[in-house]
Amino acid sequence: MNEHVHTATISERADEIEEQMMHELAERVATKSVLFGMADGKIEMLNGAAFKKDNPDKYFLMSADPRLPQMPAKPTLIDFFRNRFASLNHLLQSANLALKNGHNEKIVLACLLHDIGVASFIRCDHGYWGAQMIEPYVDEEVSWAVRMHQALRFFPDPSVGYEYPELYIKFFGADYKPEPYIVAEYERARNHKWYMTARLITLNDIYSFDPDAKVELDLFVDIIGRNFKQPKEGLGFDHSPAAHMWRTLMWPTRFL
Ligand SMILES: [Fe+2]
Ligand SMILES: [Fe+2]
Repeated sequence: MNEHVHTATISERADEIEEQMMHELAERVATKSVLFGMADGKIEMLNGAAFKKDNPDKYFLMSADPRLPQMPAKPTLIDFFRNRFASLNHLLQSANLALKNGHNEKIVLACLLHDIGVASFIRCDHGYWGAQMIEPYVDEEVSWAVRMHQALRFFPDPSVGYEYPELYIKFFGADYKPEPYIVAEYERARNHKWYMTARLITLNDIYSFDPDAKVELDLFVDIIGRNFKQPKEGLGFDHSPAAHMWRTLMWPTRFL
Protein backbone atom coordinates (compact mmCIF):
# COMPACT_ATOMS: atom_id res chain seq x y z
CA MET A 1 0.00 0.00 0.00
CA ASN A 2 2.68 2.38 1.07
CA GLU A 3 4.70 1.44 -1.94
CA HIS A 4 1.72 2.12 -4.20
CA VAL A 5 1.14 5.54 -2.64
CA HIS A 6 4.80 6.34 -3.02
CA THR A 7 4.80 5.31 -6.70
CA ALA A 8 1.66 7.33 -7.38
CA THR A 9 3.25 10.39 -5.78
CA ILE A 10 6.33 10.11 -7.96
CA SER A 11 4.25 9.64 -11.06
CA GLU A 12 2.00 12.52 -10.10
CA ARG A 13 5.08 14.64 -9.55
CA ALA A 14 6.35 13.56 -12.97
CA ASP A 15 3.03 14.59 -14.53
CA GLU A 16 3.22 17.89 -12.75
CA ILE A 17 6.76 18.51 -13.99
CA GLU A 18 5.71 17.56 -17.50
CA GLU A 19 2.78 19.93 -17.28
CA GLN A 20 5.11 22.74 -16.22
CA MET A 21 7.52 22.06 -19.03
CA MET A 22 5.16 21.65 -21.91
CA HIS A 23 1.90 22.86 -23.32
CA GLU A 24 -0.32 20.69 -25.35
CA LEU A 25 -1.42 22.62 -28.39
CA ALA A 26 -3.83 21.53 -31.09
CA GLU A 27 -1.61 18.80 -32.52
CA ARG A 28 1.81 19.47 -31.10
CA VAL A 29 3.46 19.76 -27.72
CA ALA A 30 5.39 22.96 -26.99
CA THR A 31 8.27 22.58 -24.56
CA LYS A 32 9.94 24.99 -22.18
CA SER A 33 13.68 25.44 -22.39
CA VAL A 34 15.72 24.94 -19.24
CA LEU A 35 16.27 28.70 -18.98
CA PHE A 36 12.51 29.34 -18.79
CA GLY A 37 12.24 27.04 -15.77
CA MET A 38 15.14 28.72 -14.01
CA ALA A 39 12.95 31.80 -13.66
CA ASP A 40 10.85 29.67 -11.32
CA GLY A 41 13.92 28.48 -9.43
CA LYS A 42 14.01 25.09 -11.14
CA ILE A 43 16.65 23.36 -13.19
CA GLU A 44 14.86 20.66 -15.12
CA MET A 45 13.88 19.56 -18.57
CA LEU A 46 11.32 17.35 -20.19
CA ASN A 47 12.63 13.88 -21.01
CA GLY A 48 11.62 13.58 -24.65
CA ALA A 49 12.06 9.81 -24.91
CA ALA A 50 10.09 9.10 -21.71
CA PHE A 51 7.33 11.46 -22.84
CA LYS A 52 7.06 9.68 -26.18
CA LYS A 53 6.84 6.30 -24.43
CA ASP A 54 3.74 7.50 -22.56
CA ASN A 55 2.36 9.52 -25.45
CA PRO A 56 3.28 7.61 -28.62
CA ASP A 57 0.82 9.54 -30.80
CA LYS A 58 1.97 13.01 -29.83
CA TYR A 59 4.67 15.07 -31.52
CA PHE A 60 6.77 17.97 -30.34
CA LEU A 61 6.37 21.42 -31.80
CA MET A 62 9.07 22.17 -34.38
CA SER A 63 7.63 25.37 -35.84
CA ALA A 64 5.58 28.40 -34.87
CA ASP A 65 3.76 28.37 -31.53
CA PRO A 66 0.07 29.00 -32.32
CA ARG A 67 -0.37 30.87 -29.01
CA LEU A 68 1.98 33.64 -30.17
CA PRO A 69 1.29 36.22 -32.89
CA GLN A 70 2.20 34.75 -36.25
CA MET A 71 5.24 36.12 -38.04
CA PRO A 72 5.57 36.60 -41.81
CA ALA A 73 7.94 34.40 -43.80
CA LYS A 74 10.51 37.19 -44.12
CA PRO A 75 10.17 39.13 -40.89
CA THR A 76 11.46 42.67 -40.53
CA LEU A 77 12.54 44.55 -37.42
CA ILE A 78 9.11 46.22 -37.43
CA ASP A 79 7.42 42.77 -37.40
CA PHE A 80 9.42 41.87 -34.31
CA PHE A 81 8.52 45.19 -32.68
CA ARG A 82 4.83 44.54 -33.31
CA ASN A 83 4.68 40.81 -32.63
CA ARG A 84 7.39 39.91 -30.14
CA PHE A 85 8.16 42.91 -27.94
CA ALA A 86 6.33 42.94 -24.61
CA SER A 87 6.38 46.72 -24.38
CA LEU A 88 7.21 49.46 -26.83
CA ASN A 89 6.45 52.50 -24.71
CA HIS A 90 9.84 52.92 -23.12
CA LEU A 91 11.73 52.46 -26.39
CA LEU A 92 9.44 54.79 -28.33
CA GLN A 93 9.47 57.47 -25.62
CA SER A 94 13.27 57.38 -25.37
CA ALA A 95 13.70 57.61 -29.15
CA ASN A 96 11.15 60.41 -29.26
CA LEU A 97 13.03 62.37 -26.61
CA ALA A 98 16.27 61.94 -28.58
CA LEU A 99 14.45 63.22 -31.66
CA LYS A 100 13.08 66.25 -29.76
CA ASN A 101 16.55 66.94 -28.37
CA GLY A 102 17.75 67.23 -31.96
CA HIS A 103 20.08 64.24 -32.03
CA ASN A 104 21.11 62.59 -35.28
CA GLU A 105 19.49 59.43 -36.63
CA LYS A 106 22.23 57.19 -35.28
CA ILE A 107 21.45 58.33 -31.74
CA VAL A 108 17.69 58.11 -32.27
CA LEU A 109 18.07 54.54 -33.57
CA ALA A 110 20.33 53.63 -30.62
CA CYS A 111 17.67 54.96 -28.22
CA LEU A 112 14.93 53.10 -30.08
CA LEU A 113 16.84 49.82 -29.83
CA HIS A 114 18.68 50.23 -26.53
CA ASP A 115 16.45 47.93 -24.45
CA ILE A 116 15.29 45.41 -27.04
CA GLY A 117 17.13 42.79 -24.98
CA VAL A 118 14.72 43.42 -22.11
CA ALA A 119 11.64 44.02 -24.27
CA SER A 120 11.94 40.73 -26.12
CA PHE A 121 14.57 38.43 -24.75
CA ILE A 122 16.14 38.51 -21.30
CA ARG A 123 16.87 41.05 -18.56
CA CYS A 124 20.30 39.90 -17.34
CA ASP A 125 22.99 41.66 -19.39
CA HIS A 126 20.33 43.10 -21.66
CA GLY A 127 22.74 45.61 -23.20
CA TYR A 128 24.99 42.80 -24.43
CA TRP A 129 22.16 40.66 -25.76
CA GLY A 130 20.52 43.64 -27.46
CA ALA A 131 23.80 44.72 -29.05
CA GLN A 132 24.45 41.22 -30.35
CA MET A 133 21.01 41.01 -31.92
CA ILE A 134 21.48 44.20 -33.93
CA GLU A 135 25.23 44.11 -34.58
CA PRO A 136 25.12 42.81 -38.18
CA TYR A 137 22.52 45.39 -39.19
CA VAL A 138 23.54 48.73 -37.70
CA ASP A 139 26.53 51.05 -37.64
CA GLU A 140 29.17 49.69 -35.26
CA GLU A 141 28.81 52.82 -33.14
CA VAL A 142 25.11 52.07 -32.53
CA SER A 143 25.60 48.49 -31.32
CA TRP A 144 28.61 49.55 -29.23
CA ALA A 145 26.50 52.22 -27.54
CA VAL A 146 23.61 49.80 -26.91
CA ARG A 147 26.06 47.36 -25.29
CA MET A 148 27.68 50.03 -23.12
CA HIS A 149 24.57 51.88 -21.97
CA GLN A 150 23.95 49.05 -19.50
CA ALA A 151 27.14 49.88 -17.57
CA LEU A 152 26.92 53.66 -18.03
CA ARG A 153 23.46 53.76 -16.45
CA PHE A 154 25.08 53.08 -13.06
CA PHE A 155 27.60 55.94 -13.25
CA PRO A 156 26.75 59.64 -13.12
CA ASP A 157 28.30 62.17 -15.45
CA PRO A 158 27.65 65.64 -14.02
CA SER A 159 29.35 67.26 -17.04
CA VAL A 160 26.25 66.38 -19.12
CA GLY A 161 23.72 66.36 -16.28
CA TYR A 162 23.36 62.62 -15.90
CA GLU A 163 22.62 61.48 -12.34
CA TYR A 164 22.39 57.97 -10.91
CA PRO A 165 18.74 57.01 -11.57
CA GLU A 166 16.32 57.46 -8.65
CA LEU A 167 14.52 54.45 -10.08
CA TYR A 168 17.57 52.24 -9.51
CA ILE A 169 17.58 53.20 -5.82
CA LYS A 170 13.91 52.17 -5.70
CA PHE A 171 14.51 48.99 -7.69
CA PHE A 172 17.80 47.72 -6.26
CA GLY A 173 18.15 49.47 -2.89
CA ALA A 174 20.41 52.35 -1.88
CA ASP A 175 23.34 50.05 -1.12
CA TYR A 176 23.42 48.28 -4.49
CA LYS A 177 26.87 48.23 -6.10
CA PRO A 178 27.36 47.10 -9.71
CA GLU A 179 29.41 43.96 -10.32
CA PRO A 180 33.15 44.48 -10.94
CA TYR A 181 32.77 43.58 -14.63
CA ILE A 182 30.27 46.44 -14.99
CA VAL A 183 32.67 48.85 -13.27
CA ALA A 184 35.47 47.72 -15.60
CA GLU A 185 33.20 48.08 -18.62
CA TYR A 186 32.27 51.60 -17.54
CA GLU A 187 35.94 52.54 -17.23
CA ARG A 188 36.64 51.19 -20.71
CA ALA A 189 33.65 53.05 -22.12
CA ARG A 190 34.58 56.29 -20.36
CA ASN A 191 37.77 56.54 -22.41
CA HIS A 192 36.31 55.35 -25.68
CA LYS A 193 35.83 57.61 -28.71
CA TRP A 194 32.13 56.72 -28.77
CA TYR A 195 31.56 57.34 -25.08
CA MET A 196 29.13 60.20 -25.70
CA THR A 197 26.96 58.08 -28.00
CA ALA A 198 26.37 55.56 -25.22
CA ARG A 199 26.02 58.39 -22.70
CA LEU A 200 23.31 59.98 -24.86
CA ILE A 201 21.32 56.74 -24.63
CA THR A 202 21.40 57.06 -20.84
CA LEU A 203 20.43 60.73 -21.02
CA ASN A 204 17.38 59.93 -23.14
CA ASP A 205 16.58 56.74 -21.20
CA ILE A 206 13.46 57.96 -19.47
CA TYR A 207 11.04 56.18 -17.23
CA SER A 208 9.08 59.09 -15.81
CA PHE A 209 7.33 59.87 -19.06
CA ASP A 210 3.70 60.75 -19.46
CA PRO A 211 1.87 57.43 -19.84
CA ASP A 212 -0.84 59.18 -21.87
CA ALA A 213 1.58 60.62 -24.40
CA LYS A 214 1.48 57.90 -26.99
CA VAL A 215 4.34 57.73 -29.48
CA GLU A 216 3.69 55.58 -32.54
CA LEU A 217 6.25 53.25 -34.07
CA ASP A 218 5.33 54.75 -37.47
CA LEU A 219 7.28 57.84 -36.49
CA PHE A 220 10.51 55.82 -36.72
CA VAL A 221 9.83 53.67 -39.77
CA ASP A 222 11.91 55.91 -42.07
CA ILE A 223 14.79 56.17 -39.59
CA ILE A 224 14.80 52.37 -39.28
CA GLY A 225 14.68 52.10 -43.08
CA ARG A 226 17.71 54.35 -43.50
CA ASN A 227 19.79 53.00 -40.60
CA PHE A 228 18.89 49.35 -40.05
CA LYS A 229 20.10 47.04 -42.83
CA GLN A 230 17.06 44.84 -43.05
CA PRO A 231 18.15 41.52 -44.66
CA LYS A 232 16.15 40.70 -47.78
CA GLU A 233 15.77 37.07 -46.61
CA GLY A 234 14.10 38.26 -43.39
CA LEU A 235 15.62 38.58 -39.91
CA GLY A 236 16.60 35.08 -38.89
CA PHE A 237 17.31 33.77 -42.39
CA ASP A 238 20.30 35.79 -43.56
CA HIS A 239 23.08 33.60 -42.10
CA SER A 240 24.36 36.47 -39.97
CA PRO A 241 26.00 35.69 -36.60
CA ALA A 242 22.78 36.95 -34.93
CA ALA A 243 20.24 35.18 -37.17
CA HIS A 244 19.67 32.37 -34.64
CA MET A 245 18.68 34.90 -31.97
CA TRP A 246 15.88 36.26 -34.14
CA ARG A 247 14.77 32.72 -35.05
CA THR A 248 14.67 31.81 -31.36
CA LEU A 249 12.48 34.84 -30.70
CA MET A 250 10.25 33.75 -33.51
CA TRP A 251 10.03 30.12 -32.33
CA PRO A 252 10.84 30.13 -28.59
CA THR A 253 9.14 26.80 -27.85
CA ARG A 254 10.52 24.69 -30.67
CA PHE A 255 11.83 21.35 -29.36
CA LEU A 256 15.17 21.84 -31.13
FE1 LIG B 1 18.79 49.50 -20.51
FE1 LIG C 1 16.08 51.99 -20.99
